[in-house]
Amino acid sequence: MTGEPIEWNANAPARRAGRRLAAWGLALMWVTASSGSAWAASKPPPDAGHGAVTGAQRARPDGGPPARDGSDVGSSAPTDAGTALRFGVIGDFGSGDSHESDVARLVKGWTPDFIVTTGDNNYPNGSAATIDDHIGKDYSDYIGDYRGKYGKGSATRRFWPVPGNHDWRTDQLRPYLDYFQLPGNGRYYETDLGLVHLFMLDFDREEPDGNTADSKQARWLKERLAASKSCFNVVVGHQAPYSSGARHGSDPKLQWPFREWGADVVFSGHEHLYERLDVGGLPFIVDGIGGAERYEFVKPLPESKVRYRDDWGAVRVSATGAGITYEFFTVKGERIDQLAVAKRCVH
Ligand SMILES: [Fe+2]
Repeated sequence: MTGEPIEWNANAPARRAGRRLAAWGLALMWVTASSGSAWAASKPPPDAGHGAVTGAQRARPDGGPPARDGSDVGSSAPTDAGTALRFGVIGDFGSGDSHESDVARLVKGWTPDFIVTTGDNNYPNGSAATIDDHIGKDYSDYIGDYRGKYGKGSATRRFWPVPGNHDWRTDQLRPYLDYFQLPGNGRYYETDLGLVHLFMLDFDREEPDGNTADSKQARWLKERLAASKSCFNVVVGHQAPYSSGARHGSDPKLQWPFREWGADVVFSGHEHLYERLDVGGLPFIVDGIGGAERYEFVKPLPESKVRYRDDWGAVRVSATGAGITYEFFTVKGERIDQLAVAKRCVH
């Protein structure tokens, strides 16, 4: 765990002027976790700016104990642009062992509307022989059109993965494609969930439509982001455009102009750790600590805000018509990080 303070007041210019969305400015807000209202405050407390606040304490600028289940966050926000949504983000989770199950218990305890993955869904080789034991065993309740052996699955599709490099290792992703039956070409796709629009990418070098900023896949993303009518455009891919991780680090090929194209956040995995960065005002969240062996950090990038690798965990996202909150929890329910971004969305 590093000791950097959260940035409480990093104003960024409103984007996408002329669209249906009326953003009244993006500002990081502090959250009054004790009040029951996540959206009550827009100004930091006097002592919250810079200090040796670390670990779970960083979630409580009021000095109170960390929330254990976070149920006091995000539930009473105003909703004037669609139904409020809550979802979990897991990454590099498909180990099939107890760490994966611990993370699944954490995430399902949030009763999320859906679950997003940042890839490496099925270690070690993405094979058909292991896929149900490494995904369905813990997450079948969220998988639509489920054909595995762990229950009936979900009546609707509530599990939205991206492929990781380990998923690509067998027969050019075939077991993954067969198991999930995802929209579009199944490798990369979009899904409009109302307030939130997911853009699920294939950042792998094996991707036939490329993974560079001028690739066919990137052109598709730019076009589809421009067409989005949702309040929050969430971009997800496996490999990290930016990371302070020791194993892989940043991948410059993946540093597309996401912000200019209309993304509100970029999630990735690949590095088995948690890191939140701010690159030109856009949050990049590396969330690859969902069950597999954990990795180390090297010297932090200047853009890095929060880093954690001491236990497994997942990100919870709460979206309303007034803003979006990202929180990282460990499997013990300790909240390590939170970022709240105000953005009022109207029809
Ligand atoms: Fe991985």
